[in-house]
Amino acid sequence: MIESLRNKHISIFDTTLRDGEQTPGVSLTSDEKLLIAQQLDKLGVDIIEAGFPMSSDGEAASVKRIVDAGLNLQVCGLARVIKSDIDTCLDCGVDMVHTFVSTSDVQRISTIKKSREEVYKMAIDAVEYIKDHGAKCMFSAMDATRTDVDYLINIYKGVEAAHCDIINVPDTVGVGVPSATCKLISEIASNVKIPIDVHCHNDFGLAVANSLAAVEAGASQVQVTINGLGERAGNADLAETVMGLHSLYGAKTNVNTRYIVETSHLVERLTEVRMPPTMPIVGENAFAHESGIHTHGVLVRSDTFEPGVMTPEMVGHRRRIVLGKHAGKHAVKQSLECAGLHPTDAQLNEIMKRVKDIGDKGKRVTDADLYAIAESIIGTATKGEQAIVLKEVSVMTGNIITPTATVKAIVNGKERICANVGVGPVDAALQTVTCILDDYKVKLRDFRIEAISGGSDALAEVLIGVEDEKGRAVSARARMRILSWHPWKRLWLR
Ligand code: KIV
Ligand code: ZN
Repeated sequence: MIESLRNKHISIFDTTLRDGEQTPGVSLTSDEKLLIAQQLDKLGVDIIEAGFPMSSDGEAASVKRIVDAGLNLQVCGLARVIKSDIDTCLDCGVDMVHTFVSTSDVQRISTIKKSREEVYKMAIDAVEYIKDHGAKCMFSAMDATRTDVDYLINIYKGVEAAHCDIINVPDTVGVGVPSATCKLISEIASNVKIPIDVHCHNDFGLAVANSLAAVEAGASQVQVTINGLGERAGNADLAETVMGLHSLYGAKTNVNTRYIVETSHLVERLTEVRMPPTMPIVGENAFAHESGIHTHGVLVRSDTFEPGVMTPEMVGHRRRIVLGKHAGKHAVKQSLECAGLHPTDAQLNEIMKRVKDIGDKGKRVTDADLYAIAESIIGTATKGEQAIVLKEVSVMTGNIITPTATVKAIVNGKERICANVGVGPVDAALQTVTCILDDYKVKLRDFRIEAISGGSDALAEVLIGVEDEKGRAVSARARMRILSWHPWKRLWLR
């Protein structure tokens, strides 16, 4: 633990709805923006940048809608150092206007074509205008990390004298490194007394490291986005920044970290930007263990092969033991025992061999694979009666039919038939299974279709993972033939 920040409070400024929405290919509707704002409120961020109202009428309306939603967090809007931008922001009723102008020579000369003196005056005028209208003001010297330091400090001193509430130091093209960021923020902090905020881009994968370095050097607010979304390689990721602050530095924020994964999933779904499994904290593999040495360790004591200062529970995630070619006996035995299967040592050795054979072929071993292998080795005599025997499952779906599933099964010796609808064919099937199990809730955790061969009659492998309310999960796979692609991207499977 780094002691310098212990118990220091850091404010979290989320810009998912502004810089995050500038992620190439991302465009959110007003409803989606409101949903994300509400989730960020639940998460406990202090302030959000709801948008850039001048960019379109729809954007201004969305920002206003978020302001009117009566959330606990503060709402900020972005504006250039131009009166019409600032007026549009103020008309939305935001708590704070974030005004910015390019200060680096490269941007100043090539884009806005203004002298240093002109930029200085525009910045001061904008801040005075915002303050005269009674809103809080944050000023950003865009491209601060490539700006001449004396000029940068001069402009920050100028806006401070104009009663700006907080200054932001953007690393606009992500060229900072932690030591340089630390030096720059320390220098600014020794010249300016108002709070300092940082906005780091991730072009070299250093956005979080630079944000943490800035906090070490005296910044009291950090700008982040959910899932690290943002221009180009994105911004500092909220989960990594906040968990770094909490778990590595002992600093405090108002974020309720248990909602971090839930928030990441919501933003992933709405933006359609998928997170890689290895994404820290929120990725599917963030707390997954496969190798025998690691799984044995975490089954005995989780902090043997996890940070310990950050657990899956702290961020709303779940620890997972994955079976594959590196699987160890402890993990396999534990998975089997959870399913009521108790192999002898010799049987376990044989099961292990088959699991590793599947892994060696480059395949993932699902729970259903494991149970099938175990049952074939242990023999049916030891299995007891099968609680559920699936007899039939059929799903109807299409562009004009509500997805409907019918399931016939023997449940504890009695035949049951149920039908139910869902938002899609898989959901309909799951709703029907829930109904057949007398409302025993089963939630879809993972559903993937992977093509095995190409062509119009391609073979595909479907991987499915479900979980009950106690977090007990099972996965299975099946191969099927893709009959055709529906024009609305629906897959028809046999
Ligand atoms: O990256 C940047 O400099 C920005 C500013 C608007 C703060 O997004
Ligand atoms: Zn940015």
